[in-house]
Amino acid sequence: MSAAPKPNMTKSVEMFSRCKKSIAGGESSYARLRSGIELCLDHTAGSRMWDVDGNEYIDYCLGFGPLIFGHNPQDIIKAVVDQITTKGYHFSFPHELDHKVGEAMQRLIPGVDKIRFTCSGTESTMAAMRLARAYTGKEKIIKFEGAYHGWSDVHLYSVHPSLIQASGRYNAPNAMADSTGIPKAFGESLIIQPFNDIKIIEQTIRQRQHEIAGVLIEPAMANCGIVPPRDGYLQELRALTEKYGVALIFDEVMTGFRIAAGGAQEYWGVTPDICTYAKAIGAGFPVACFGGTDEFMDVEARNEVYHGGTYTASPLTLAAADAVLQRIERDKDTMYPELTRLSEKLADGLVAAARDNGFNAIWQGVGPLLQIFFGKDDSKVDRLYNYREILNWVDEELYSEWHQEMQYRGVYLFPSQYERLFMSTAHTDQDIEDTIAIAQESFKAVAEQRAK
Ligand SMILES: Cc1ncc(COP(=O)(O)O)c(C=O)c1O
Repeated sequence: MSAAPKPNMTKSVEMFSRCKKSIAGGESSYARLRSGIELCLDHTAGSRMWDVDGNEYIDYCLGFGPLIFGHNPQDIIKAVVDQITTKGYHFSFPHELDHKVGEAMQRLIPGVDKIRFTCSGTESTMAAMRLARAYTGKEKIIKFEGAYHGWSDVHLYSVHPSLIQASGRYNAPNAMADSTGIPKAFGESLIIQPFNDIKIIEQTIRQRQHEIAGVLIEPAMANCGIVPPRDGYLQELRALTEKYGVALIFDEVMTGFRIAAGGAQEYWGVTPDICTYAKAIGAGFPVACFGGTDEFMDVEARNEVYHGGTYTASPLTLAAADAVLQRIERDKDTMYPELTRLSEKLADGLVAAARDNGFNAIWQGVGPLLQIFFGKDDSKVDRLYNYREILNWVDEELYSEWHQEMQYRGVYLFPSQYERLFMSTAHTDQDIEDTIAIAQESFKAVAEQRAK
């Protein structure tokens, strides 16, 4: 099996160089084309997308996660079109969709008494951190190594430190800024901790309780592959934070409406003080929110803490959120088991294909979130529990080679071992079977290239 030839991507290359003339770097987000393969899209539908050269892809990136119903779900489009053609698309005043979506959030999310809308996950996590600080009157926020909460100065630290030696001890990592231009003071307002280690965080919180406002956590880390919590970890963290007067913040930007209708809170039965939502809540429309218990959200209600935005609670995006939540409330009993079934079928198939071709691979996932990890040697692991374990175990080079073979054969995955695959309700068994067959060919091609 030889390497797949690069499909004709002449138009993508041309379009991307034209984009680069007016858009710095050619695209408006940091990571999208990390593979270096220019790919400009023409159109999308269901589980598929087509580039400007007409190449078709089965898509497991799904617009970086929001497209829980796949591309262009007709019910969501209809709700948005009805709203903007009959009522309007930008109000900046309270409107009917405010309370419809707010009430659906109250019904679905155990930890939501009240919410506030934002326009992105980054804004939601910034607002949640500020609220925790305002409520507790303390300043430090615990954040986990390998976790991503958005691109703001307040939390873009220790997301992907590549030099662990420079990042300090396992139990007390240094806060490492992930970008130039971030003042050190923001790092000093954070305490970085390893994920999944209750003993370490117990000690940290006990010793520094007087200065810790909150713990900001992705209940399952979804930005260094997928790392589910150990059994009991979130429950123990909840007990600890309660005991020491520290706010527990669940960043559910990835897990929200994805792993269950009630997100991680329902899935693991743990209720935080504050939580954040984005991505799936709008199925691709830019709507997000943060929320929490009345005790915390009353601080927002009294406007003691500043939160605002011209486009927050836009009727355009809330029409989408309303339609998404209606569909989730209607379909949740069948939708989540089905997404999980497809996801596990894919994950098992990919790992089997890798092993058939001599590669050391495991997968980790929760519901429709999954990632396949490749070992850089033959060492066996059952599970990877935190960022450092992943960094030490995985073969990023192999992931890149495989990714390219998959993309050239018509399967689009994130171009990084540290991201993850998403499943949508638009994916079918046939998509999964085709993807596994393509994975077999791709691993074989990589194995042959490496043997040369
Ligand atoms: C867990 C988590 N929080 C926050 C964000 C930031 O969301 P946004 O890109 O909408 O700003 C992301 C984005 O991927 C995320 O994965």
